Amino acid sequence: MEKLLVKGKTKLNGKVCVQTSKNAVLPILAASILTDKEVIIKKCPKIIDVLNMIRILKELGCIVQWEGENIIIDSSGASKSEIPQNLAKELRSSIFMLGSILSRFHKAKVAYPGGCDIGIRPIDLHIKGLSMLNVKIEESGGTLYCEGKDLKGAVIHLDCPSVGATENIIMAAVLAKGETIIQNAAKEPEIVDLQNFINKMGGKISGAGSSIIHITGVDKLHGVEYRPIPDRIAAGTYLIGSAMTGGSIELSNCCTEHIYSLITKLKESTCKIDYINDKIYLKAAKRLQSIHTIETMPYPGFPTDLQAQMLSLTTIAKGTSIIIENIFETRYKHVAELIKMGAKITVRDRMAIVRGVKSLYGTQVCAHDLRGGAALLLAAVSAEGVTEISDVFHIDRGYENMTDIMISLGADIKRVNI
Ligand code: EPZ
Repeated sequence: MEKLLVKGKTKLNGKVCVQTSKNAVLPILAASILTDKEVIIKKCPKIIDVLNMIRILKELGCIVQWEGENIIIDSSGASKSEIPQNLAKELRSSIFMLGSILSRFHKAKVAYPGGCDIGIRPIDLHIKGLSMLNVKIEESGGTLYCEGKDLKGAVIHLDCPSVGATENIIMAAVLAKGETIIQNAAKEPEIVDLQNFINKMGGKISGAGSSIIHITGVDKLHGVEYRPIPDRIAAGTYLIGSAMTGGSIELSNCCTEHIYSLITKLKESTCKIDYINDKIYLKAAKRLQSIHTIETMPYPGFPTDLQAQMLSLTTIAKGTSIIIENIFETRYKHVAELIKMGAKITVRDRMAIVRGVKSLYGTQVCAHDLRGGAALLLAAVSAEGVTEISDVFHIDRGYENMTDIMISLGADIKRVNI
């Protein structure tokens, strides 16, 4: 197993070109089998979740190759409609394959998905949505057996704006007969990206980014070359890291409007932030000020995927900050680790009360999930002394070359095999 040995206290200064969005690429990879023609997805991040989605596509019979940073997919020979447990459990987005496999093969056998251990993560909305599109679904032994011979459009209201369920329903509806309307759809930028990708293949989708999405079923889709959007969570993570270490950073390949909620909170902590075109500039405050309240909400509210990183920042901000995690039930596994580093945090159900201290101190900590692991790395760079972070594979699932990027910004990090 690999560990990171991080020697704090160093500033994070410099320039970062932000990776392409993990959470845009994963559903787009799933949607690539909606056509039997060649699909090219450009500038994909080489991260564990993308590699696992490629394994799933190959399991279905697709030919998938890297050409530099581009992924070339030829699904003309794909014939299997099953995702075995050993692959499905590797990541949450294996469940997104359900909609596209049904559209392509009209049947599917998919084991329950994996993904970060941050809550119950049910798939009831996926199942309800697909059933309303005339899919017969049986669950047994942790596997979904689906028959979708005659996919028909429907009006589907989601109890909550689930990102994955919205994406799954879109992929199952795009080749179905007739019109589908998704009400209370998720509005994340990654949904808009999926709409744009499928429309470029000849799909007829509108409304993504709003809570009502219209899909008109078409007969077939053609090949496409597409570059997905930048990763707003990776961008936010580097901004927060530089803010925590008293640094200054310039990000390129950003969609600023995707992280206005974070920019607002970083300004509240008295960082200086400017942005123009695809660039964001941050200069850290001399001493970070506490943030009154950070409440995670569906987009465009504050993203749950930046909660851990911002909680890390508040541990060394002057004053008391309140964080409320509304999306996932148990997304505070990083708190116990930060307390080991000297943070003063009280958690009551969904609320974390953070009393800022002058500095954290290095010690042994463990990453429990992707964003919590990133939060610990930021804390370690800002802390006095050496921090040893174990289970770093969690971080490698979603951040491309994060260790090298942090080192290029001034961090002292060694990756060791133990
Ligand atoms: C996507 O997960 C992202 N993952 C997550 O990012 C992100 O945190 C999440 O959306 C919310 O923005 C990918 O895109 C691969 P949801 P997803 O369905 O689709 C409830 C990261 O760190 N729900 O929007 O699984 C659920 O319990 C990852 O990059 C149901 O009740 O999230 C949760 O409370 C972590 N029934 C809420 O909806 C369902 O059928 C939001 O979940 C589905 C979801």
